[in-house]
Amino acid sequence: MPKHETTVRPACLADADAIAALTSVYARNGVMLERSADNIIENIRNFFVAEHHGMLIGCCAIAFYTAQLAEIRSLAVLKEYTRKGIGRLLVKKAETVLREEGVREVFVLTLSPEFFRASGYAEIKKEYFPQKIWRDCTHCPKLMACDEIAMVKKL
Ligand SMILES: CC(C)(COP(=O)(O)OP(=O)(O)OC[C@H]1O[C@@H](n2cnc3c(N)ncnc32)[C@H](O)[C@@H]1OP(=O)(O)O)[C@@H](O)C(=O)NCCC(=O)NCCS
Repeated sequence: MPKHETTVRPACLADADAIAALTSVYARNGVMLERSADNIIENIRNFFVAEHHGMLIGCCAIAFYTAQLAEIRSLAVLKEYTRKGIGRLLVKKAETVLREEGVREVFVLTLSPEFFRASGYAEIKKEYFPQKIWRDCTHCPKLMACDEIAMVKKL
């Protein structure tokens, strides 16, 4: 699939249902946190989507923690479109926006460390990010048995 046929753009409200559908497939398999359509709508300005011939095939979101620290989350690519560079395009777009905002460090909590390693992220202890643990992890059903890997990249 030629990369120029895929565009990455900021999400709009009309994308919320498609983002919810895409992320819920992976959430059901325990690969990422479930995001309701309402939660996605609330945070829509922080989402980016990848589109191929008018179809939403990928998404990711950014979350700010301090003026220097942010997270990339809710990254998902439709299964049929994986390993075609779409995930990398989404992460690059998110990093560009974060850099423009002056963010110096970006982290992820992931079960796909190979993907992030290939994008320049390195493993780090979760305790390095107390803000994250208190904001989101306390609501996660996996809190006491978290299998996600924390990874970080300097921007
Ligand atoms: C992780 C995910 C976003 C990757 O998206 P993708 O579009 O397939 O990734 P890309 O094609 O841009 O991959 C870039 C590089 O990452 C690495 N990579 C990606 N997926 C990989 C995998 N499953 N195993 C090993 N390496 C992988 C490869 O080096 C790849 O380059 P290559 O294909 O030239 O070898 C996608 O598989 C997905 O949606 N997974 C389920 C949800 C998830 O785990 N999200 C992350 C939560 S933070």
